[in-house]
Amino acid sequence: MPHYCTLIPGDGIGPEVAQAAVRAVDATGVDIVWRRAELNEAIILESGKTLPQYLLDSLNETKVGLKGPVTTPVAGGFQSVNVALRKTLDLFANVRPVKTLPGVKTRFQDVQIDMVIFRENTEDLYSGLEHEIVKDVVTSLKVITRVASERIARYAFHYARTNGRKTVVAIHKANIMKLADGLFLRCCRETAKQFPEIQYKELIVDNASMQLVMRPETFDILLLPNLYGDIVSDLAAGLVGGLGIVPGANMGETHAVFEAVHGSAPDIAGQGKANPTALMLSAVMMLTHLGENAASHKMQNAIEAVYREGKYLTADVGGTASTGEFADAVVKAIKG
Ligand code: NAI
Repeated sequence: MPHYCTLIPGDGIGPEVAQAAVRAVDATGVDIVWRRAELNEAIILESGKTLPQYLLDSLNETKVGLKGPVTTPVAGGFQSVNVALRKTLDLFANVRPVKTLPGVKTRFQDVQIDMVIFRENTEDLYSGLEHEIVKDVVTSLKVITRVASERIARYAFHYARTNGRKTVVAIHKANIMKLADGLFLRCCRETAKQFPEIQYKELIVDNASMQLVMRPETFDILLLPNLYGDIVSDLAAGLVGGLGIVPGANMGETHAVFEAVHGSAPDIAGQGKANPTALMLSAVMMLTHLGENAASHKMQNAIEAVYREGKYLTADVGGTASTGEFADAVVKAIKG
């Protein structure tokens, strides 16, 4: 039986990196039927909708998506595609593994970084509830619920248990937001009791940011509400070489959408300069999700081998290869 997967190439560098990722997945020999669903700035502006019905229909059928970045139109008050997708499909867990890749020059050459970030994806200041209560006075509502906090905490601890991870650190600002972050923290503490073999720690977000830069190798699993998760994930991406190499997954009870952390990079779109590693590694996560562990390992190992060799790297990580040349090298390494 083949796997069915919705492929959303997106726009900007999206189609280039999506093509590279699809070539690598197909090279593993896994039987995947790609259902291509176009979504880009022009379609959003023309239809007036952030999420066209055909895209939701496809994801409701396949339950799995591989998504390139989509430009958010600045004018017209459109919601970001990602926020809309996460809310509509209830993709409550944003998962970002941040790992040192061999041969990538960073400021942290002498340490091995290997952390996984779990960010709550549906609430917090992303509730979109903003009001101008009187002229020039605006409030923006931070919504934290027990249901969502417990759900992301359970997801992170369960991942730790099933993936041989040792420590979960909850990151918060409960010293200031006593009610909102206090509830998030209570849910994390209660969940931690159900996983006694996993060490549980807490850090205030400002201190956590400093520790991440000073001692990134000491972090294992990070558990955060939405806004801190958003910021800390990009900080963490910077530790290992930037947005071009960090993958991501948006996981729900029924659906899963895999995508890179980066955006549509209009400054380099269409020039063959984009690094497809982030979307390729997101596709590796997708293969694991589909139960295709052998293919997932094969693709991960091939990407690491190309980095170790260092001959076909893109400009953002210090090389001179094009998107296509990097993809060729990965495909060749997969085929052995
Ligand atoms: P961006 O991530 O597109 O670009 C930031 C910088 O990183 C640029 O200099 C770009 O050239 C570089 N970069 C990004 N990905 C790269 C890659 N794979 N290889 C090499 N260099 C790479 O962020 P920006 O410019 O803030 O956003 C551009 C558009 O993307 C916006 O419309 C934004 O709304 C959208 N966006 C979409 C996302 C998604 O669909 N997942 C996520 C973030 C932004």
